[in-house]
Amino acid sequence: MPAFTIRPATANDLDAVRAIFNYYVTHSTCTFQIAPETAEERLAWFRGRTECHPVTVAEAGGEIIGWAALSPWKSRCAYAGSAEASVYVHHAHHRRGVGKALLLDLITRARAAGLHTIIGGTTTDQSASLALQLALGFESVGTFREVGYKFDRWLDVTYTQLMLTGAPVPACPSRTA
Ligand SMILES: CC(C)(COP(=O)(O)OP(=O)(O)OC[C@H]1O[C@@H](n2cnc3c(N)ncnc32)[C@H](O)[C@@H]1OP(=O)(O)O)[C@@H](O)C(=O)NCCC(=O)NCCS
Repeated sequence: MPAFTIRPATANDLDAVRAIFNYYVTHSTCTFQIAPETAEERLAWFRGRTECHPVTVAEAGGEIIGWAALSPWKSRCAYAGSAEASVYVHHAHHRRGVGKALLLDLITRARAAGLHTIIGGTTTDQSASLALQLALGFESVGTFREVGYKFDRWLDVTYTQLMLTGAPVPACPSRTA
């Protein structure tokens, strides 16, 4: 694999972002989405991004091989300093440091945006995701039992959390409630 770089995503990346994601929709419990995402849904998601909630891509030799995003943890205004991290690496490019680089970059962006904490949510049987988060300093804060149902079985979700600085809560434009 050629060396990869990480940069903010553009609308031109969304087909690749969606293709990487939809593989996991149909093959994995790492996302609780069950129906493949449409181009319209991904575009609407992209248009909802803010300075506090970026989406990034890892690109190697002109190919998008992974992406990451920070999303609002909850919609109420008092949660504005908290964001949830998502990282998806193309299934053909695992264990080459791409996920780690994407998550480290997200952490840097979160600090720069003044976020207070990043939350990771992982289906408990997804050992790679949990291991990645723990390797980067996230701490496990608890497990919800059987909150998801996919592929004919109940699924637990383990949450992790990385505390950032004591920076002030950012005033995100999306925060109105
Ligand atoms: C989780 C995921 C992002 C990891 O990406 P990756 O590029 O394969 O991971 P990296 O090569 O950067 O690994 C970084 C560290 O994570 C941990 N890790 C990654 N994959 C692992 C696995 N299969 N088993 C155990 N540890 C793993 C290790 O600590 C690893 O460091 P090491 O290689 O020095 O041992 C990738 O497996 C993926 O896209 N999975 C599907 C989507 C998903 O579950 N996303 C997370 C939920 S948002």
